Amino acid sequence: MTSAMGYGKQGQAQNLKLPFAFKAAALALIFLATVRVAAAQTPPGAAPQAGQRGKDVMWMATADALIARMLDLAAVKASDYVIDLGSGDGVVVIAAARRGARAHGIEYDRALYELSKREAAAAGVAARASFAQGDIFEADLSAASVITAYLSESVNLRLRPKLLALRPGTRVVTNSFGFGDWKVDDAASAISLKGLLAPFIDHPKDHCFLVCNAYLWIVPAQVEGRWRVGGGVLELRQSYQMVSGSLTQGGKSVALAKGRLRGEALSFTVGDTEYSGRVGPARIEGTARRGGVSTTWYATLER
Ligand SMILES: C[S@@+](CC[C@H](N)C(=O)[O-])C[C@H]1O[C@@H](n2cnc3c(N)ncnc32)[C@H](O)[C@@H]1O
Repeated sequence: MTSAMGYGKQGQAQNLKLPFAFKAAALALIFLATVRVAAAQTPPGAAPQAGQRGKDVMWMATADALIARMLDLAAVKASDYVIDLGSGDGVVVIAAARRGARAHGIEYDRALYELSKREAAAAGVAARASFAQGDIFEADLSAASVITAYLSESVNLRLRPKLLALRPGTRVVTNSFGFGDWKVDDAASAISLKGLLAPFIDHPKDHCFLVCNAYLWIVPAQVEGRWRVGGGVLELRQSYQMVSGSLTQGGKSVALAKGRLRGEALSFTVGDTEYSGRVGPARIEGTARRGGVSTTWYATLER
């Protein structure tokens, strides 16, 4: 999905053979009209229109069937704090609040923001659903345990550093769009027959045609570095949740296999030993299993 922002040619008036004052007035009018169009938002009280422009992406609601899949993927429960980025008319926030979670929506369009508050009150979840009118790039997301988003690939890429800096284990779930080379941790899809009827519905809120996709990422802990383990050295390299490296003990170095992070949970194998552990600040603690025998292990960060 791309925003409608930025289309249309401007500045043609300067080629006309007209007096300067006239040209200036024409340019001013064009400028004002452009600013007005660029700032166009839902008029207060009016029903939003699918495809209407938004700050960075247009408005389109997530199909109900997909909202359920997204919240299932993120395993949303009552103890969660869900933040929907670009919350539109509030459907995702309301659905999360209906599951007992506290949920918060950030929406730039003031009329959509006002509408979402009314919808949450009408749904009887206003106590657990809150909304803020503002820009997702300026919002503090640090309290979230779950982030939901239906934006665009390019907006997701701009958001990626902010999301990767969230608490390890924070679940990020999107409708349709990914985060470039950050591989998904899980995915689900929903069938929406309603989408097929979209051409015949006056103001369809979503255009999920038949199959709609949801994706999940879990913010990984930072493990890259050199760790001291027993008498040896564990060298870890990291690309998002994918971990590689080597374990060197007694002068012998063996490459890690199947290295993976799921939030703070680290797992990898070295030869026929399976390591699992929890990554804390400068320390990893866990269990090593070999031939049905488990032992504990820990590592401390050298640098
Ligand atoms: C595709 S809609 C998704 C709405 C809702 N999350 C859902 O899934 O039904 C994207 C929403 O993001 C809003 N938006 C776009 N850029 C934004 C920004 N920088 N900050 C806050 N909201 C933004 C748009 O106004 C629109 O309502």
